[in-house]
Amino acid sequence: AGSGKFFVGGNWKCNGTKDSISKLVSDLNNAKLEADVDVVVAPPFVYIDQVKNSLTDRIEISAQNSWVGKGGAFTGEISVEQLNDIGCKWVILGHSERRHIIGEDDQFIGKKAAYALSQNLKVIACIGEKLEEREAGKTFDVCFQQMKAFAEHVPGWDDVVIAYEPVWAIGTGKVATPQQAQEVHVAVRDWLKKNVSEEVASKTRIIYGGSVNGSNCAELAKQEDIDGFLVGGASLKGPEFATIVNSVT
Ligand code: G3P
Repeated sequence: AGSGKFFVGGNWKCNGTKDSISKLVSDLNNAKLEADVDVVVAPPFVYIDQVKNSLTDRIEISAQNSWVGKGGAFTGEISVEQLNDIGCKWVILGHSERRHIIGEDDQFIGKKAAYALSQNLKVIACIGEKLEEREAGKTFDVCFQQMKAFAEHVPGWDDVVIAYEPVWAIGTGKVATPQQAQEVHVAVRDWLKKNVSEEVASKTRIIYGGSVNGSNCAELAKQEDIDGFLVGGASLKGPEFATIVNSVT
């Protein structure tokens, strides 16, 4: 941990029911969370209102996606305006599941980030390489390419948190080692320094995602350039998520 306030996000993905989410919210409401950590959870769209109405204000709410422009005739999409209307403060964009399963490309994701920021929705901007790209020695190339697309579109970085999520570590139980994660985080920070500014490089939080759990979070959190986590599976368990939030101390 190094830049700014530690940030922990829980990405619930496409999981949960009214009942399981009500239990999760009550566990989160009862959890003791370190004061000096930004905590955000991202429920599926249809449960955002339920969560907003029952979750402590201590935790902010994120969407898992948003439409690229103003709402209108876009069947099945959810607009940034609607997310603002129901009290979302954040949106996750460029998650690998949307890149690689749904097929969103760098430019589309960059435009989504720009639109969200223009409407005061903060962005968790995800990047990360696939296993074959890592094995081919292309990790930095891929991450820099994804960074470039964000940089070309966003008006500024104040309301952006970057999430490095190596695809091979997501939902696989194969967490990146603290060294592997730190190596990419430093490289991304260095990229920001060279391509955006020294100030943005030092201020922007770069968080890690990919099989983070209650047992591996403390070692990862010790790394100088790991400024928090984006947690999938383990964020569905309130007490374990609280352990991860508190791992910075
Ligand atoms: O966005 C969080 C993520 O993709 C990591 O998922 O289940 O490996 O923690 P998981």
